[in-house]
Amino acid sequence: MQNSVEIRGRVLSVASECVPLIKTGGLADVVGALPGALAKVGWDMRVLLPAYRSLRPRLEELDEVWFEQNLFGGDARVMAGEIDGLQVMLLDAPHLYDREGGPYAGPGGDWFDNARRFAALSWVAARMARDGIDGWKADILHCHDWQSGFAPAYLSYGGTGGVASVMTVHNIAFQGWAPAQALADLRLPYDQFYPGALEYYGGLSSLKAGLVYADRITTVSPNYAAELMRPEFGMGMEGVLAQRAGVVSGILNGVDTAVWSPEVEPVPYTLKSLKGKATNRAAFCAEMGLDVPGPLAVLVSRLTDQKGIDLLEACIPDFIAGGGGLAILGSGEATLEAAVRRLEARFPGRVSVRIGYDEAYSHRLFAAGDAVLVPSRFEPCGLTQMYGLAYGTVPLVSLVGGLADTVIHASPAAVTAGVATGVVFHPVDATGFGQALRQLVQLYGNKPVWAQLQKNAMKQPVGWEASASAYATLYEGMLA
Ligand code: ADP
Ligand code: GLC
Repeated sequence: MQNSVEIRGRVLSVASECVPLIKTGGLADVVGALPGALAKVGWDMRVLLPAYRSLRPRLEELDEVWFEQNLFGGDARVMAGEIDGLQVMLLDAPHLYDREGGPYAGPGGDWFDNARRFAALSWVAARMARDGIDGWKADILHCHDWQSGFAPAYLSYGGTGGVASVMTVHNIAFQGWAPAQALADLRLPYDQFYPGALEYYGGLSSLKAGLVYADRITTVSPNYAAELMRPEFGMGMEGVLAQRAGVVSGILNGVDTAVWSPEVEPVPYTLKSLKGKATNRAAFCAEMGLDVPGPLAVLVSRLTDQKGIDLLEACIPDFIAGGGGLAILGSGEATLEAAVRRLEARFPGRVSVRIGYDEAYSHRLFAAGDAVLVPSRFEPCGLTQMYGLAYGTVPLVSLVGGLADTVIHASPAAVTAGVATGVVFHPVDATGFGQALRQLVQLYGNKPVWAQLQKNAMKQPVGWEASASAYATLYEGMLA
């Protein structure tokens, strides 16, 4: 428990995912970790998110703090209180969120009314921020990704009530597109439908709205902030961002080191002695029927194009020939699931694949593995390379986004200087990835160098401290 830190201000954080309540990716980890990290530096953050069907049982633990008549087609209320140590507000709007499936899709794919579902979340966020609830009044409205992108726009149209707004981009690939005809349905003013405001390539994008109307824009690594201004990474949004370059900054994510630390694993280990890691590796290989003389690589990921998973089939055979092995945990696109399954069938004893989402198993992989692979085509921040650093599971990553900001390539000079923490490759294609895997095999074969890499990795600070103080500085500047 920290002793009473003076409260500098209040932040309403609005998002579609938040650990431990609902997660499809790193967004949830970050939204769930920020309140605790910020509390230590004097910022009182509460999180607003939709009461999806899976969260409805939790409503009983909460108190009603807001009622909204006809919220995009039905009445809604906001229920607030503490869940698992987090101050949360759940937007209870059954006509929008009480549905089978995940946050964005049901059994038949993405919901047809996603634009409206998340405009509703944004609408309530803006109104609650402006008016305050039960004596709690936000100084700052902090929005995450396209799902809350309309909130700064609604706040600006209705009068901000002295509330400043931040838009954080976790992934520019998802832009919240809607046709221009949806303007009225989304309660947006016609006179704002022009390129400098709401219009986006003839339609609407909630993310663009957030980028235009928010007072500050952040993204989840400094390198991604720079990349976003360029067409290769901006995905159509580069012009919007370049125009607002003066208010854009990159703040690297942290990871929750109380959860992601080899010291809290069932067979723990530390920087001083990695014996426990060897035990974990042996037990894991025995259980999975693996026999890997070279480096055991692990990969924990959504299986999508972003993550470069399609490169595995071309490059892993050579890695196996060099003595390597691979354990994969992930789920996603059917073709990529099939591709990794083919590798498993082709290399019994060397490749093991688990399709699905499994938090406990992912911990086992990081505790047992020698290296973690992150061959992403783009990666705003990335969390698994940071788990790799913390676990001495040497990261092999592509030179993009937050991966480039967090891993120091084992070039001959960096190895000699004793600062390398992993392998970084470019370009992101089979040639680049294949070469990086060959280098990994070589490094693993050189025991003193490998031990140095692991130790350097484990010494990297990957917690939230630096990022929390960067957010605090950002918020302070907005109060002024
Ligand atoms: P993204 O958000 O783009 O998916 P990140 O690296 O930021 O990428 O975050 C992904 C998060 O989801 C990490 O915490 C990672 O460990 C976790 N994760 C991804 N796939 C799985 C899985 N199949 N099982 C368990 N955890 C997973
Ligand atoms: C997104 C990005 C990922 C980032 C995460 C949390 O899902 O793809 O790189 O780490 O958001 O910010």
